[in-house]
Amino acid sequence: MKRLLATLATLFAAACDRVPLEQPMPSQAVVSWDGLYLTHCAGCHGADGSLGAARPMRDPAYLATLSRDELIRVIGRGQGRLMPAFDQSAGGPLTAEEIARLADGMRQAWGAGGVPVGMPWSGSAGAAEAGASVYAAHCQACHGAADGRAPGTHGSVTDANYLRLASDQALRSAVLFGRADLGAGCDGRPNGRRLQSQEVADVVAFLISRRPATGRSDR
Ligand code: HEC
Ligand code: HEC
Repeated sequence: MKRLLATLATLFAAACDRVPLEQPMPSQAVVSWDGLYLTHCAGCHGADGSLGAARPMRDPAYLATLSRDELIRVIGRGQGRLMPAFDQSAGGPLTAEEIARLADGMRQAWGAGGVPVGMPWSGSAGAAEAGASVYAAHCQACHGAADGRAPGTHGSVTDANYLRLASDQALRSAVLFGRADLGAGCDGRPNGRRLQSQEVADVVAFLISRRPATGRSDR
């Protein structure tokens, strides 16, 4: 939990204080997709699309599962508390055309050969009670018991402060794709098999059920 929380706290700070441009871009030139990425995304999602505080973008399965429209929508409107909205219509710095160029560049450079996970990127949460069993069987060994009685080998994802900062979609994406860049076994195949779509929905519902009801306005 310490690491995950520290990560999210860093992101919180970064959201208020954007990473400055290292080299100013000439104002007339069309900025390439990777220039846009470096300026606007790398500070949180990693310099080459991985090993940042926020989930990697250099993840072929991820980019093959999320549709182009969904990717463009997240970049434009933001997500949850920590992912800023980049579209000018939402107060961000990028035009719709720049967002499309960025999304297409990421998909081409980092999505090639990606195999979709066979479930939609987005989906509604299932039943928290069933999710508790999925959690105990497939997540607890690494992330610890939700009641804190049995610590795991990695950070807690049932901690209230973590859950306050992570959106429902961030949790679902973590279950579906894990963190391919950390290579630490959270890859959507706990115990060697991919979870079924109902199990994914249920375990996400279980995590959401652990989030304190107060202090949140977004999903
Ligand atoms: C201030 C840090 C920050 C910056 C800058 C940032 N992101 Fe994010 N991004 C996040 C965090 C944190 C999340 C997860 C938020 C949540 O859902 O709780 C996220 C979520 C996302 C997601 C959805 C991940 C999912 O849950 O499936 C995409 C796609 C994405 N970001 C792309 C980008 C792109 C492209 C840029 C640059 C234009 C960018 N982000 C800039 C922090 C950032
Ligand atoms: C083999 C160990 C392992 C298993 C099993 C596992 N995880 Fe993870 N998970 C990790 C590691 C490692 C990370 C990266 C963060 C860290 O180092 O604590 C992670 C990250 C996460 C994150 C946070 C992602 C982020 O960046 O915010 C969530 C949420 C998560 N896991 C949920 C789950 C759920 C739910 C299950 C069961 C379906 C599960 N994990 C199974 C090891 C595991």
